[in-house]
Amino acid sequence: MTAHALTIEGLRVEAIHPHGRTALVDGVSLTLHAGEVLALVGASGSGKSMTCAACLDVLPPGTRRVAGSVAIDGNVRTAFELRGRQVASILQNPRTAFNPVRSMREHVGESLRAIGRRGADARAEVTQAMRDAGLDDPERVLGLFPFEMSGGMLQRMMIALALVSRAPFIFADEPTTDLDLIVQREILDLLDRLKGERGLGILLVTHDMGVVARLADRVAVMEHGRIIETGGVMEIFHAPQHAVTRSLVAAHLSLYGLEDVA
Ligand SMILES: Nc1ncnc2c1ncn2[C@@H]1O[C@H](COP(=O)(O)OP(=O)(O)OP(=O)(O)O)[C@@H](O)[C@H]1O
Ligand SMILES: [Mg+2]
Repeated sequence: MTAHALTIEGLRVEAIHPHGRTALVDGVSLTLHAGEVLALVGASGSGKSMTCAACLDVLPPGTRRVAGSVAIDGNVRTAFELRGRQVASILQNPRTAFNPVRSMREHVGESLRAIGRRGADARAEVTQAMRDAGLDDPERVLGLFPFEMSGGMLQRMMIALALVSRAPFIFADEPTTDLDLIVQREILDLLDRLKGERGLGILLVTHDMGVVARLADRVAVMEHGRIIETGGVMEIFHAPQHAVTRSLVAAHLSLYGLEDVA
């Protein structure tokens, strides 16, 4: 895990439809550093998920990456080279990310095979990763199927798989949206701890400014497929430049009855 920065440059994604093409992501450039959480925020439909998906070449049918590159420490990488090796993904709904008829042990086996690892060392690392992700009884959990686990446990398992992959960067797309408030907090604390202990660089997609305040070091704001503002978390909350950023911050503060404090 020696990578220092992941750089997205000039990313463009288009939807292809009978009447032509529409830009969904339009010239997005971002740098994610090791050991930081970069929050990607913006209204629903602004292109946050498409940005992540385009980097890893997992775009939905009907959409296509037409320009842009992703580099690790200045070296351009293909999506295949990035996926699971340099960038692990943590998704919104962990239940849909797991195969319902496979145990956790089988999922772990598949992840290890994908990165060409095996043997006692790899198994020991899995146990450690599961403990680090807050799964206290790894042997028992490895025997479970997704339907036997809570959403919080599945999300911890997804994080454990991310750790096993040894990817230095994580794309976390709304990782806590489907979880109850207590589990949300635990998962956010966990991501924060892993950032510090393992020096992971985390691109955190969210529209919850509470999550941003809690976790982010820097923030990039999207609107209509473009990045319209980037800044440190304090700047974004205390001196937002763009109207969209101001309204995101104002909506967040009004939730807490703090609109006059800003
Ligand atoms: N399969 C698809 N084909 C064409 N357009 C799509 C497809 N999926 C999503 N879109 C469009 O792409 C745009 C960006 O969507 P995206 O999912 O990246 O938004 P988002 O910022 O992640 O929103 P949310 O906060 O709701 O998750 C939206 O306008 C959406 O309607
Ligand atoms: Mg999304």
